Amino acid sequence: MWKALVLAIALAREVIADWQFRSRPDLAPPRLNITIPPTKDVEKGYLFVAPFAGLQDTVNEQHGPRQAGPYIFRDDGDLIWSGYGYYSIWATNFLTVEWEGKPVLACFEGDHNPGYGHGHGHVTFLDQHYETIRELRAGRHKISDKHEFWTRDGKTAFIQIYQPVPRLLKKYGAKPEQQWIVNAIIQELNIATGEVLFEWASLDHVSPDESVLPINPGQAGSGYNSSDAWDYFHINSVDKDPAGNYLISARDACSVHKIDGKTGAILWRLNGKQSDFKFDKKAGKFCFQHHARFLEQYDDIEVISLYDNSAHGTEAGDGGEVHTAPTSSGKILKLNTTSWTAELVQGYYPPDDLLSKSQGSTQVLPNSNVLVNWGSEGAMTEYLPNGTAIFHAYMDSGLLGVGVENYRAYRYNWTGFPNEEPAIVALEDDKGTSIYVSWNGDTETKHWRFFERASKGSTVNRLLGEIERRSFETMLRVDNITDVEVFAEAISHDGAVLTGTRPTIPQPNVSPPHGHSSSWSDLDGEQLVQQILDT
Ligand SMILES: *[C@@H]1O[C@H](CO)[C@@H](O)[C@H](O)[C@H]1NC(C)=O
Ligand SMILES: *[C@@H]1O[C@H](CO)[C@@H](O)[C@H](O)[C@H]1NC(C)=O
Ligand SMILES: *[C@@H]1O[C@H](CO)[C@@H](O)[C@H](O)[C@H]1NC(C)=O
Ligand SMILES: *[C@@H]1O[C@H](CO)[C@@H](O)[C@H](O)[C@H]1NC(C)=O
Ligand SMILES: *[C@@H]1O[C@H](CO)[C@@H](O)[C@H](O)[C@H]1NC(C)=O
Ligand SMILES: *[C@@H]1O[C@H](CO)[C@@H](O)[C@H](O)[C@H]1NC(C)=O
Repeated sequence: MWKALVLAIALAREVIADWQFRSRPDLAPPRLNITIPPTKDVEKGYLFVAPFAGLQDTVNEQHGPRQAGPYIFRDDGDLIWSGYGYYSIWATNFLTVEWEGKPVLACFEGDHNPGYGHGHGHVTFLDQHYETIRELRAGRHKISDKHEFWTRDGKTAFIQIYQPVPRLLKKYGAKPEQQWIVNAIIQELNIATGEVLFEWASLDHVSPDESVLPINPGQAGSGYNSSDAWDYFHINSVDKDPAGNYLISARDACSVHKIDGKTGAILWRLNGKQSDFKFDKKAGKFCFQHHARFLEQYDDIEVISLYDNSAHGTEAGDGGEVHTAPTSSGKILKLNTTSWTAELVQGYYPPDDLLSKSQGSTQVLPNSNVLVNWGSEGAMTEYLPNGTAIFHAYMDSGLLGVGVENYRAYRYNWTGFPNEEPAIVALEDDKGTSIYVSWNGDTETKHWRFFERASKGSTVNRLLGEIERRSFETMLRVDNITDVEVFAEAISHDGAVLTGTRPTIPQPNVSPPHGHSSSWSDLDGEQLVQQILDT
């Protein structure tokens, strides 16, 4: 009895994700909890995220998102595309890039090792029809890690690899049996062929002395075996400037290094134990950072952006946490390579004092707004250039919002023409019929036109109505159709018919009463248990 109750509550909680879309009852995308609604100043484009559950499900507790995967959302939380089932294994760093002159979706998919913050897999590319067109793997018998995939020219890509290697580590405080260390490697690959154009390995250039996390105890691996290798450097981003030099972010050294693209020599180090720069203010300093990007270079100045976690800790929270500032932040830094000074141009500080012990990103947008993603805190914020927050959302809401994490968030434009046909369902009740239609990934439909067929097999169609598409799913309510086939056509902004659904026969409506997705608790657990006990 007790067990049945617990199970019923667990099921009731799962119900929370149900019926967001009548035409796609299989989809349970995260419901964004938007606490700062977007102002008119947000940059144009959609939000690209790949939220996942940071907590394990138990029999009486389920965590969001129910369907971890890559998603494209509008600013009001409306779904454009659910990538659940497209990227079928653990997916992260979901973005769009141009490859060979065409916009494509790219996303890491693979195995996730949350304990060590590593991932092993490959980057999968989808075209504008959401068809897989390429998988990119690291070269030279190494396995790509999850942290980076990035391209500047749409021809070559930067990725990184955590390669465990045995070394004598006694002088770094290790016992003789602690001999495994992670060689943090970056590669630049030809996307089309996979050819390795450049490779650089941290152990050739960076001493383990630069690490801020000692080999003991447990925070970054203790070196007893290859899967527990000491992650002394932990590269989590790679970028390249027009001169052909690289910028890497090394979380476990709390530093950003610039690397000569020809010789591999370190040109400078910013922050960390051996910084070449002095900071004008303490506020410019950072630690355990992510996502360093070149923004601008002129004269003796280099401007970069990064995400400053200022926190480190194990995912389970049992390894202790290190905090170096009260909150995490996005940062733009200006470096002068004559005076060797680093200046904080602007910091982007979180609503709700968020401090993320892992992950995170800072994307400077074309209009100079900045999108900051708070990693392990499962939230993102868009700012005006001066640091004013104009949009903030948590990546799931209610019970399902607890423990949701997201590695990076981006804003991009995107045009999607799904190869799959649109989904339709017609649900009949006492007073009439509601016809619902949706087309996962479509960005082009402006109106949906609904028709009925006078009789089965007839070719005479009667227009039931035309509804402007405002959301993932569009509904037409009609009073008096019964037992006739209905279908819908997607109409583009210039009036062209993009595609049509197959015809469907209305079926009895057994779904909970109308009430849209944003009210997440259609039925709470207690109520459902009561209903089950009553029957
Ligand atoms: C590797 O070392 C860690 C830390 O000592 C230990 O927990 C783990 O069981 C070891 N794994 C294997 C496969 O021996
Ligand atoms: C960088 O610093 C040097 C030395 O202080 C100074 O002469 C130079 O003007 C600075 N560069 C810029 C672009 O401000
Ligand atoms: C930031 O810029 C906006 C728009 O220009 C302005 O309204 C706001 O007062 C500025 N905020 C700060 C703190 O300067
Ligand atoms: C949204 O997030 C805020 C801030 O964390 C929280 O107080 C609120 O309960 C959340 N709302 C929902 C519907 O989850
Ligand atoms: C999207 O396209 C518009 C119009 O071209 C442009 O102004 C905007 O900067 C683009 N947004 C992004 C995120 O690139
Ligand atoms: C539905 O009702 C409208 C308006 O009363 C009427 O014009 C139409 O013929 C009816 N359709 C059917 C299939 O009964």
